[in-house]
Amino acid sequence: MSAPSDAQRMEKIVSLCKRRGFIFQSSEIYGGLNGLWDYGPLGVELKRNLKDYWWRVMVHERDDVVGLDGSILTHPAVLKASGHVEGFSDPMIDCRTCKAHLRLDQLVEKKGIKQCPSCGGKDLTEARQFNLMFETHVGAAADESSIAYLRPETAQSIFVQFKNVLEVSRKKLPFGIAQIGKAFRNEINPRNFTFRSREFEQMELEYFCRPEQGMELLEYWKEERLKFYENIGISRANLHVRNVPDEERAFYSKGTYDIEYDFPFGRHELEGVAYRTDYDLSQHQKASGKSLEYFDEETKEKLIPHVVEPSAGVDRTLLALICEGYAEDQAPNDKGEMETRTVLRFHPRIAPIKCAIFPLLKNKEPLVVKAKEIVQLLRPHMTVFYDESGAIGRRYRRQDEIGTPFGVTVDFETLGEKDAALRDTVTLRDRDSMKQERVAIKDLVETLTPRIRGFISI
Ligand code: GLY
Repeated sequence: MSAPSDAQRMEKIVSLCKRRGFIFQSSEIYGGLNGLWDYGPLGVELKRNLKDYWWRVMVHERDDVVGLDGSILTHPAVLKASGHVEGFSDPMIDCRTCKAHLRLDQLVEKKGIKQCPSCGGKDLTEARQFNLMFETHVGAAADESSIAYLRPETAQSIFVQFKNVLEVSRKKLPFGIAQIGKAFRNEINPRNFTFRSREFEQMELEYFCRPEQGMELLEYWKEERLKFYENIGISRANLHVRNVPDEERAFYSKGTYDIEYDFPFGRHELEGVAYRTDYDLSQHQKASGKSLEYFDEETKEKLIPHVVEPSAGVDRTLLALICEGYAEDQAPNDKGEMETRTVLRFHPRIAPIKCAIFPLLKNKEPLVVKAKEIVQLLRPHMTVFYDESGAIGRRYRRQDEIGTPFGVTVDFETLGEKDAALRDTVTLRDRDSMKQERVAIKDLVETLTPRIRGFISI
């Protein structure tokens, strides 16, 4: 069997996401809303596992980071001070032939002439700046005075609440404020499935420090973040660090790394790790007239802290996890014939369902009763799924396709019918190797838990 091309691979991934309930198009029954997506029953579990793991690593396992959950609707003054109202825009061009709205960098050039990528038309408007923020109105009056914005990044509420958080947490530099939440950008051309969406989630840390620590911490956070991706099952070989050149960096940034992933549609950014200097806090201090200074007890010095920001996209990372996990291999069916199997090789710590439980036959009550007892035994410790319908091989295949790392089968040995020594043992099947081991029911929790948490590699 020849390997599918990248475009075919992506098509299969998109189709699997819909078929198995990871990702649906938003408002699909009304024709869909471009650049917006809904996460189905499995997608929402995968997303929660990803965000929970980020929060655990970035907040709970550290003494120097605390959390924040800021509002999405944002005061215009915040985004004026940050520069978003004036400058958060992309150059846009219209094609007069097919009426497409295009980003300047999407035009194709043939023989030195710029053309529309959709229709090949050459009748294009001049580029104009298109602000990517969504504007709305707060309260009953829909006029200039009631404008608010849907935040384009979670970071700004962290800067604006810096002083409050500092006072209540009594942290000393360096320390960070972390936030996971929605952000919104009115992309001119959303594309590549969920990669570039108009509504998305960010996992951002603003790590405040003394100015002389900035460059060192930029390196530190780049390495920490690479470790994170490897710990959720993304191979280092598919991750790339791009040192963003001066001309592409925001003017206030002294250094930025993009952590990129090899998606089937090309190499694209998962996360930016940026040294933003003291730009944001200084801007907000100037615009609000409120001090955002830090008093260093040791040096008796007042300073505006600098900040290093690892900013990751939830939806992009989730898509990378699905692309990374997607595989087709050969597995025997119930007749022992080899056939193609689709499998999502998720790391157990992020897999939506950790363990599937199957009675070998659904019409043998003692098997069903035992399997349901195992569901109750495991459920407090992990997400489980009970399935009694169809041949056992087909049930394994259904779980392989959604990335369930473990399968427990209750068979006649479990009932002690063939060998009394095997009573109350089950087969534990590993998704990737498809190997089966015999495990006592009473040992299941302690066998599975370390494998799910990643303490034992499988
Ligand atoms: N806070 C950085 C970003 O949203 O890209």
